[in-house]
Amino acid sequence: MSEAPAPDAVAPDAADSTDVLADVTAADVTASADASARIDRLWPEPAADLDDEALLEAYAFPGEGPWLRMNFIASLDGAATRQGRSGGLGDAADRRVFELLRWGADAVLVGAGTVRAEGYGAMRLDNAAVAWRVTRGLPAQPVFVLVTRTLNLDPASSVFTDAPVRPIVCTVATAPASRRAALAVVADVVDVGETEADPQRLRDELAAWGLPRIHAEGGPSLFGAFVAGGAVDELCLTLSPTLEAGDARRIAHSPLAAPTGMALASVLRSGDELLLRYRRA
Ligand SMILES: NC(=O)c1ccc[n+]([C@@H]2O[C@H](COP(=O)([O-])OP(=O)(O)OC[C@H]3O[C@@H](n4cnc5c(N)ncnc54)[C@H](OP(=O)(O)O)[C@@H]3O)[C@@H](O)[C@H]2O)c1
Repeated sequence: MSEAPAPDAVAPDAADSTDVLADVTAADVTASADASARIDRLWPEPAADLDDEALLEAYAFPGEGPWLRMNFIASLDGAATRQGRSGGLGDAADRRVFELLRWGADAVLVGAGTVRAEGYGAMRLDNAAVAWRVTRGLPAQPVFVLVTRTLNLDPASSVFTDAPVRPIVCTVATAPASRRAALAVVADVVDVGETEADPQRLRDELAAWGLPRIHAEGGPSLFGAFVAGGAVDELCLTLSPTLEAGDARRIAHSPLAAPTGMALASVLRSGDELLLRYRRA
């Protein structure tokens, strides 16, 4: 595996000549919860071997109103990646929760750097998830929302061509017009800022689209922008029982520091791994 692409190093016209997404495997991130990964709850109410229904209840959105949840994994020494990807840190339990967290969301939000680095394909929940959603009055699939200032995304990628629901691309007014036109064929392209995506404006925009409950899968630049913008309600953090050293970055970074108090909501455990849930204090 290679290091994640350095987004800021992407030339503005790169999408015209280099097919960024074509270089990565079009991994279909179809959800399929791995119920074999045992997960216990340590706090607040201890419970052994949670089934999917119990996990879905534990991770339920607090209501139907606007809510933004970020989900990350980090090593004990704070690395967000191993060899450029988050998957190297995760195990079956983290993957199980990662997939279940999508089930109750109106929108699944991801930064373009993560889409490129992790080789995202179309986001399509499996039949079990669809049945679960439909019986609760939700649309069969959440909407996949990508955030990019350069629009350096390939319209021919399976992210768009295999999408069960037309994705939304959140971008900025200064984004290149040619890429905007190309992506507008396969996605709804929406401006949420002048030169940077404004997290609150993005949230308001998605709420206006009927998508108030947002489940975000990173990455660190997007998370940093949302922390700096005071737009994070919740963090689900898997603490992977490993020390990484090296030069991997943290799960959030931004030009400005933005200390934000968080309150512990729950602690799950799978072996030596902790799955923590924090809400804004
Ligand atoms: N540990 C974990 O749980 C986890 C989770 C996710 C990702 N990761 C890792 O994180 C690495 C990627 O890091 P990253 O920081 O590049 O990821 P990222 O935040 O997903 O992507 C950064 C890109 O997203 C767009 N973006 C982010 N914030 C923006 C804003 N405020 N306004 C406009 N556009 C914005 C820009 O896209 P354009 O460049 O297209 O303009 C930017 O270059 C990968 O190695 C991935 O594996 C780890």
